[in-house]
Amino acid sequence: MEDSRTIETATMKMIEKAKKDNVETAWDRAEKMKPQCGFGETGVCCRICTMGPCRIDLVGDGPKRGVCGADADTIVARNLIRMIAGGAAAHSDHGRDISHTLLMAAEGSDYEVKEPEKLIAVAKVFGVETEGKDIKEIAKETAIKALEDFGRYEGLTLYPYTANEKRKKIWEKNDVWPRSIDREIVQIMHQTHMGVDADYVNLIQQGVRASIGDGWGGSMIATELSDVLFGLPKPIETEANLGVLEKNMVNIVAHGHEPTLSDMIVQASQDNELLERAKAVGAEGINVVGMCCTGNEIVMRHGTRMAGNFLQQEAAIVTGAVDAMIVDVQCIMPSVTQVASCYHTKVISTSPKAKIPGAIHIQFDEKHAYEIAKKIILEGVENFKNRIPEKVHIPEEKSQAIVGFSVESIIKGLDKVVIASAQPTGTVKPLVDCIVSGVLRGAAGVVGCNNHKVQHNYGHVELIKDLIKHDVIVVVTGCTAYACAEAGLMKPEAKELCGPGLKTVCELVGIPPVLHMGSCVDCSRILILLNEVAKYLNLDISDLPAAGAAPEWMSEKAVSIGTYFVTSGVYTVLGVCPPVLGSKNVTKLLTEDVEGIYGGKFAVEPDPHKAAQLMIDHIEAKRKALGI
Ligand code: SF4
Ligand code: FE2
Repeated sequence: MEDSRTIETATMKMIEKAKKDNVETAWDRAEKMKPQCGFGETGVCCRICTMGPCRIDLVGDGPKRGVCGADADTIVARNLIRMIAGGAAAHSDHGRDISHTLLMAAEGSDYEVKEPEKLIAVAKVFGVETEGKDIKEIAKETAIKALEDFGRYEGLTLYPYTANEKRKKIWEKNDVWPRSIDREIVQIMHQTHMGVDADYVNLIQQGVRASIGDGWGGSMIATELSDVLFGLPKPIETEANLGVLEKNMVNIVAHGHEPTLSDMIVQASQDNELLERAKAVGAEGINVVGMCCTGNEIVMRHGTRMAGNFLQQEAAIVTGAVDAMIVDVQCIMPSVTQVASCYHTKVISTSPKAKIPGAIHIQFDEKHAYEIAKKIILEGVENFKNRIPEKVHIPEEKSQAIVGFSVESIIKGLDKVVIASAQPTGTVKPLVDCIVSGVLRGAAGVVGCNNHKVQHNYGHVELIKDLIKHDVIVVVTGCTAYACAEAGLMKPEAKELCGPGLKTVCELVGIPPVLHMGSCVDCSRILILLNEVAKYLNLDISDLPAAGAAPEWMSEKAVSIGTYFVTSGVYTVLGVCPPVLGSKNVTKLLTEDVEGIYGGKFAVEPDPHKAAQLMIDHIEAKRKALGI
């Protein structure tokens, strides 16, 4: 079976079924959209004021400036950093909600501090005195300090202080240390307003500031406080792909991004009252499965099975076996309700920020979290009897995977090697030793979304296979994690696809070669890991034999992630070109000049094999420079 849209057979089957059921999918809509607008694609369409829309003619004798006189450099840079603002806002608002949930846990709610030790570590970053205080008091003060960091009016955001000394100096020297997380996003909106900044370098610098406020601010706070509230991820077995849906159980798909709701859904799905009700409607039980990043959050902590990534959200409903799809925020296609209308599926929106026509809205409220989670699940349970048997087809595909690799659990896992050789434990030394000795050539972070412009999962899987074959250990988040789990790259047997060095490490430590580090905000875990290794070696992140990639990215969040990786010193290869080619200057700045400033840079390479080779070449060049 072959299909130019996806490499993944369960999804192929659902695309075929959708066609038979007369259901339109993203691929159909993408086809209708062709040819896509060249002005938009190259970033030279401006709609910032109503003298426009203006567009720059890149090839002919048409306009070279907008009505106001903005040239291609200004227009491209403004559009790009507005994407960063969107992405950083999404991640950071998520971080703010988690901080607020911590505050509520401290004041009394259905949430509690699950990791007091981690809370104390986070409190220290925020300068909260912990000695002699009870854990609720520490939680309250930490939550308030975290919330303050979003709107701080003096000083600088606090989490970037955890970076290594060399990196901090680079940010200071280039004046890109975020002052407050929200402020940098707001400043982007001001700076890109009609008639404000026209200097593409200055514009990009502001984009950099906001992106650091995301990666080393909002996202990092989201990750750290999620661990405090919901538990530190530890290695756990699971299964991935549409085959995790069950014919005889109530299927609840948790889709979106934040753990606040999904974690409660997992808990509430075990409620006796609901289980009784499920039996009463003829189901054997309640099967909660995850989709996109909220799925990553719950699989990392509970092993909740992974139904699919971004481009599988419609396919999941096409199975005809989803009784409720519960959504919160981000990456939810508005089409899910249209697809659902052809089956019995109820789409339930829960966030005041994300309502979808055709969905039932049950607003989530952290104060009554458990009760609302039960109410939401009950909708799914009661809907079980409305399944249309002749429309139900659950593909059998599902793969085993081991997930749950927080930085803490990676360090603990590697201690197995240390204990064998009686050295101090709890540091990144074993990882460093493997890299310095050349057993591992280096490390790569592969992250990001799916995009119909790339065959679904092909970019992720092919690139990663090449990396592990060359003894490069790979960490993943987001939709990449699903692609890897579905392709079997997260099971121990995947060691057979590795070079001899990585294979040995997998055998000794008992890990797969591709480590699932969580959701998109958990890209901050990758920063923390790189930073720990850099600190241990007294180097900067840019000195390390490491590289990043986003082979199938599509969202504004990915633009922010890519930018904070590059400006943290990581060489980052994109599989889809961002809308910048309309400006030679902006393109050159991002793919060449930026390296001299931040030590990292972007490259664009749609062919995953060539992209992997670029990353391997970079890793080898860094090894050579270090003399290892
Ligand atoms: Fe055109 Fe300038 Fe208005 Fe943009 S800001 S739409 S380039 S006039
Ligand atoms: Fe995500």
